[in-house]
Amino acid sequence: MSVTLSPRALLSLLANGPKAMDVLRTALDLGLLDALEPGPARLDALASQFGVLPLRLYKFLDCIESLGLLIRDEPADDIGATSYRAVPGLRDAVDAVVGPGAIERDRDRYPWRQLHGRLAEGLRGEVSIDDDFAWPPKTAAQTAEFERSMALGLGPAIAAVRRHAGRLWSDRHRLLDVGGGDGTLAAHILDVAPALRADVYNLPAVAPLVATTGATRGHRDRLGFVGGDFFAEPLPRGYDALSFVRVLHDWPNAVARQLVEQAYAALPPGGLLLICEEFRTPDRLAMQFFWSYFLIGVDSSVSRLREVDFYTRLLTEVGFQHVAVLAGTWELVTAYKPT
Ligand SMILES: C[S@@+](CC[C@H](N)C(=O)[O-])C[C@H]1O[C@@H](n2cnc3c(N)ncnc32)[C@H](O)[C@@H]1O
Repeated sequence: MSVTLSPRALLSLLANGPKAMDVLRTALDLGLLDALEPGPARLDALASQFGVLPLRLYKFLDCIESLGLLIRDEPADDIGATSYRAVPGLRDAVDAVVGPGAIERDRDRYPWRQLHGRLAEGLRGEVSIDDDFAWPPKTAAQTAEFERSMALGLGPAIAAVRRHAGRLWSDRHRLLDVGGGDGTLAAHILDVAPALRADVYNLPAVAPLVATTGATRGHRDRLGFVGGDFFAEPLPRGYDALSFVRVLHDWPNAVARQLVEQAYAALPPGGLLLICEEFRTPDRLAMQFFWSYFLIGVDSSVSRLREVDFYTRLLTEVGFQHVAVLAGTWELVTAYKPT
């Protein structure tokens, strides 16, 4: 189901956002979402199963329906006979947003309040996010905190590289994950590609984090680290696969092109380049809301959510072949250097 609301109605929901989250959290905690998702579930049956008052539950479920998350069938005046079904995936979505690993909760720890209520000054450049957040990170503590926070949001990338593992890695020997964070993604790739070795290429300060990931994830022997700065030197050679995961969108178009050209130069004939990030769709832009807001105050990050076509075109222009977009919650773009 997809519901398109008028601007006025959407804004009303946003203004009542904390109450909407209260409803959803309560529905999750009570177990109502487990009952609603397989659906259809009758109001009278739900009320007796959960020990709540039917008329109150009816209003509660209206709150969820107003968010476009419930489908209701009300055949008669008897509200007890009203039946409901939640949209597929609702329980997991609510769990992801209110649960302990919620990226929303993690993002809330960033100093966004420095901009809040002062956005007009922010837009004029009179207010910025101060040194609590530096991009790229400056101190060891900022680096560790940033990479930890990044790794939290890697779920869709991990799912995509695992889903396409056979196609991606069966004929590969060495992967360099460029700007590969603390090595979390590389470790997940190694889980499903036993013949592969992977190195993370990142700023030297990240080395201890990757070593910790290798040790804790049981890949000490196959997960390595190459310290460097892709703006100061060419990318290292000797790898038959390179990946940019949530790296290119940090930079302007010309820099993204330059990095793709560097990857082309570093790869051998037949080498694979993999690009994964949140390509721009209404859904991803919504999930990106925090960064779009917060980074208004951080001029060193361009934060460009690009359409996937930008990359498929760029890869072809740079000389790559067999450019493909592999399906996933986040798609993967793959391309090969001609042999
Ligand atoms: C947005 S994070 C993405 C991290 C990881 N790939 C992920 O998706 O979680 C960008 C990464 O690029 C790295 N990076 C930034 N500037 C760099 C540079 N000049 N050379 C090498 N790595 C860099 C950062 O340290 C960070 O690990």
